[in-house]
Parts: sequence; structure tokens; C-alpha cells
Amino acid sequence: MIKIFASQHELSEALAREIINLIGIASGEKSAFSIAVSGGNTPKQLFTMLGDRFGELADWKLVHFFWVDERCVPPDHIDSNFRMTQDSLFSRINIPADNIHRIRGEDDPEAESLRYENDLRKSVAAINGLPSFNLMLLGLGVDGHTASIFPGNEALFHSERLCVSTVNPSTGQRRITLTGKVINNSASVVFHVTGSNKAEIVSKIIDPNRADKLFPASLVVTANNNLAWFLDKEAGALLDKET
Ligand code: 6PG
Repeated sequence: MIKIFASQHELSEALAREIINLIGIASGEKSAFSIAVSGGNTPKQLFTMLGDRFGELADWKLVHFFWVDERCVPPDHIDSNFRMTQDSLFSRINIPADNIHRIRGEDDPEAESLRYENDLRKSVAAINGLPSFNLMLLGLGVDGHTASIFPGNEALFHSERLCVSTVNPSTGQRRITLTGKVINNSASVVFHVTGSNKAEIVSKIIDPNRADKLFPASLVVTANNNLAWFLDKEAGALLDKET
């Protein structure tokens, strides 16, 4: 499913409503809701709106936050995905600290990837014997990376591990990232992409006539085909209407 919105604001509002709706369904069933969020810049407006406009509409005691990936920096570092989520969302809602399962970017990457993997197995309901997130929120890099799986390192997506340490090839920054085993086992996956600089890569990944090569983001598929693209007009500009 591809949804294109006239502005980033409208996109943030629609995606926030979708998240609140999914949480509401889970809380109606009195079941926990596990969400894995990405970092970078795109989620900031969504998280701020989710907290400011919709924060009162969810029973956050049922919601458990995880990260799709993290930069190997301390939690108060400007690059930290946890810090970005803390500043834009957690500072606006009343969520129990135990429901926040951050990746400890300040620790040894290999040891932390193992610890986080154990937390996933312990804390996220399993389907097919693997953690299955209710919702996986993914971003997209202009090079076609998603999570911290970068072009040329697609093998990480197919790792037997649920979570691995890696490096951002353009900055050399150490990262910890979920692998395809967990990403593709999610009940629902949303790619949240904005901006004209992403239009080219979005069309190369979505438009079958343009899929001239596979990118890491191309490898994201869900068994139940529950994958949605939430795009603003700029990011969706090169998609023809029939896509
Ligand atoms: C990260 C993200 C990464 C991000 C894309 C898009 O840690 O950077 O998880 O996968 O989603 O790089 O980033 P922007 O939203 O900043 O364009």
C-alpha cells in the first residue's frame, strides 16, 4: 500500500493516527503493543505530533518501544536515536521506563547486540519462533539503506542473528541494527519517507519498471504483505499513478 500526502505535516498526522489506531486495537484486546522505531530526522515531526496531539489517546502502559537501529554513542549524544525519540516523544507522554528498550549505544557493540537480541526474545511476542513486532517503522536512506543495513552489506539482512553490529560506510560510525529475520517477521511494516532527495530511491525501490537493482530496503517483505509506504508528495514525486 502506498499513501502519498500533500505535506509532511499531513503525513505525520495520518501516520500518528494509524499508530494510535493500532495501539487501540491491541489495548482493546488487553495485549501489549511492541513497536520498533527508526532514527534519523524523518521521525521527529511524527513523534512530536504523536506526543502533543495524540498522546492522551493511547494507553502507553501497554506499549513497548524498541529501536530498529542505534548509533554506537551514549544516550545523550546528539547522534543517538534514543535521544531523538526521548526529546520528541517520550518527553511528551507518560510511558513507564521499563517499556523503553533502548539499545545501549555506549556499550561494546558486539556484547550489546547479543544483550539486545536476548531482550527481543524475552520481551517481544513471537511468531514462527521469532520476535514479531506489531509495528516496524522504517526510514530510507538516499542510497537505499534501511535500519543500518547499507548497500554492499545486504548479507547482514540475511544474517541468522536477530541483531548485529555494523558500520556506516560513509561515516565509519559503529551501529547496531536489527536484521531481516526480525524486520520481515513484523505484523506490520511502514516505510516513512519524506523529501525530494528521496524521490529517486523511492521510485527505484517501489516502481517495478525501475527496480534495476536490489537495495537493502528492497529486501523488506512481510509474510502477510502488510507493508505500507507513507510518503509526502516530494518523496513520491517520481511514482506514476499506477504504481
Ligand atoms: C538511522 C536510521 C536510518 C534512517 C535513514 C533515513 O539510524 O539513521 O535508522 O535507517 O531511517 O538513514 O534517515 P533520515 O530520516 O534522517 O533521512
